[in-house]
Amino acid sequence: MAYSITVNGVAREVDVDEDTPLLWVIRDELGLTGTKFGCGVAMCGACTVHMDGQPLRSCSLPVSAVSGEITTIEAVEGPEAKAVQAAWVARDVPQCGYCQSGQVMSAVALLREIPKPSDQDIDRAMNGNICRCATYVRIRAAIHDAAKLLEA
Ligand code: FES
Ligand code: FES
Repeated sequence: MAYSITVNGVAREVDVDEDTPLLWVIRDELGLTGTKFGCGVAMCGACTVHMDGQPLRSCSLPVSAVSGEITTIEAVEGPEAKAVQAAWVARDVPQCGYCQSGQVMSAVALLREIPKPSDQDIDRAMNGNICRCATYVRIRAAIHDAAKLLEA
């Protein structure tokens, strides 16, 4: 069946089964491979994208349930995204990098909601993003750095 979805500001038509996860539409139909597949069951956060600015697990949302504009790591922008990207580079956060696009998407959503998050806010917001390389300490520090950049 054909579905119209808007991804990164562009309206796209995709012809897939209704239960096809958004993640596979993004990766296989649209060729946007920055969003990663980890667990496939909404447990790891590797597949995190935004729908109307809210983070969601694209592996577990059927394309037929998409009800807003999708943004992926390839196009996330704005002051929070810039600050997170700068802080990530300065802190050299990624190790293998596999989880990191999901981490960045969750961090950007957090800073849009809470510009100056506490450690607890960060832990709560990032709780569902698993990193097999255990970069959690650098992630938390980089989010604090990004919050400071946003203040400046
Ligand atoms: S792949 Fe979607 S949460 Fe793990
Ligand atoms: S940096 Fe390797 S899984 Fe997170």
